[in-house]
Amino acid sequence: MYWWQKTVVYECYPKSFLDTRGQGTGTIEGIRQKLDYLSSLGTGAIWITPVYVSPMVDNGYDIADYCAIDPLFGTMEDMDRLISDARDRGIRIVMDLVFNHTSDQHPWFLESRKNKENPRSNWYIWRDAKEDGSAPANWRGIFGGSAWTWCEERGQYYLHTFAKEQPDLNWEEPEVRQALYQCAKFWIDKGIGGFRIDAITYIKKPAVFLDGLPDAEDGLVSIHNMTANTPGILDFLHEFRDHTVKGTDLFTVGEANGVSAEELPEWVGENGVFDMLFEFSHVNLEFKKNEIWTRPDSWTISELKEALRNSQENTRDAWYPIFFENHDKPRCVDHFFSEKADRTAAAKVIGMILYTMRGTPFLYQGQELGLNRVCWDNIEMYNDISSIGQYDLALKEGKSQAEALAAVRKFSRDNARVPMPWNREKNAGFTSSVPWLNVHENAEYLCAEQQQANPDSVLSWYRSLAELRRSHSALIDGSYEEALAEDEDILGYLRENEEERILVLANLSEKEKIYEFDEKGYMILLGSYREHTSGKLHPLEAILLCHKK
Ligand code: NOJ
Repeated sequence: MYWWQKTVVYECYPKSFLDTRGQGTGTIEGIRQKLDYLSSLGTGAIWITPVYVSPMVDNGYDIADYCAIDPLFGTMEDMDRLISDARDRGIRIVMDLVFNHTSDQHPWFLESRKNKENPRSNWYIWRDAKEDGSAPANWRGIFGGSAWTWCEERGQYYLHTFAKEQPDLNWEEPEVRQALYQCAKFWIDKGIGGFRIDAITYIKKPAVFLDGLPDAEDGLVSIHNMTANTPGILDFLHEFRDHTVKGTDLFTVGEANGVSAEELPEWVGENGVFDMLFEFSHVNLEFKKNEIWTRPDSWTISELKEALRNSQENTRDAWYPIFFENHDKPRCVDHFFSEKADRTAAAKVIGMILYTMRGTPFLYQGQELGLNRVCWDNIEMYNDISSIGQYDLALKEGKSQAEALAAVRKFSRDNARVPMPWNREKNAGFTSSVPWLNVHENAEYLCAEQQQANPDSVLSWYRSLAELRRSHSALIDGSYEEALAEDEDILGYLRENEEERILVLANLSEKEKIYEFDEKGYMILLGSYREHTSGKLHPLEAILLCHKK
């Protein structure tokens, strides 16, 4: 097994992690100072979202220099120190590669936009206007509005899957690909542990750019439907692999919106292009039904079970990155459960699945504290470029301001980006200055310091789970077999190797459940309620039992 299959990856959103300079935003040094905290969660790798030079239109996902650190986060020396101090503790740093697009302030784009003759003229995706002067196709960018922006200087439109400040690179141009591979190598040479690869399903564009059937009142169609996972993409990615990580011990995990669980075998494993792929079906159930304006409980637990089952099944010969949260998603306690649910029990049941399914757990900053969403009064309080776009689109679709705000509250990426609550001091110990986003309204109760002292807290639960992963090899290399598959509410599975058989039961419903399973010979190792009665699970109860061979 590879090292990254045995560990936990902690996703860190540095801007909101810990400010060591009194500037209101987190720093790289802040991550270094919390390495022991991260170790206690079983972390063996830290995926850091972009810290490169950036105008920060999309909080760093608009990169102006792939090989330099933005002064907001610190210096390259800080980064080198983090890589080396982390390594001393057995933790590798994982960088975020954003190769679908750059910032519009990247020198490559500044040159490309000048005219049609410059050496980098073909590095981005330029097209003439239609005869009437309008955009080459009626595509809507992921953040709302047309995916095309007119450039006066060059007299053409350029394409951007995301914001207009994030022009898409032209992967058809071999020089572009080589330049990107060089940037990846720069980081490989620094001794990092892997790459998370951003928005990778969008790099290949169709040969012709046709108008699509509008899917909303604005007359546009989502670019996702027109370009995601275009045939031919895997050729690019095989080349990427061959020129960068092949032959190293780094791992890659791709962000793969648009790849279904059934397509996973082509993407991951021995003959695939990545080691792991984030596949979103289990966290996008409401989108699948195109019900983003309705409550999340419009899907059933059976559907959630099915999505998880498909991902497990389709990565049997490969490896699965288990995740329930990231910096783009609402907090899991809100996303999967009703407002009435007990937040601590909800956070724990998800934690159990995260740390014990087959695969590498990706724990997102603050998830270990059971943070829930924030509830802000008006759209001006939100920073997320995507929320602002969604809000405008909702108004255009005839929703009221209150309805639009309700959807923003539910889906805003800011829910996951509020500053980490460390202690009960000013600004929850995140900064001595004014934080860039409001701190969580329940920081006082949810902060790490408070939870550390409480053996029943979510933080203590995660530490126990980390300990279990360390001491029970079946949780790492054991086979995976579903148990109680027919039950509508309980997710159950067995993890088994030559030493032991482990049974995990997670009641995902908010009601008591009776189940039938012969627990003879099993010993309970961890349960989210003080007592466990065989054959019965409390609402949201999670238990782990072990049968030694
Ligand atoms: C996916 C990232 O996770 C998200 O935060 C970002 O806005 C887009 N890709 C664009 O890079």
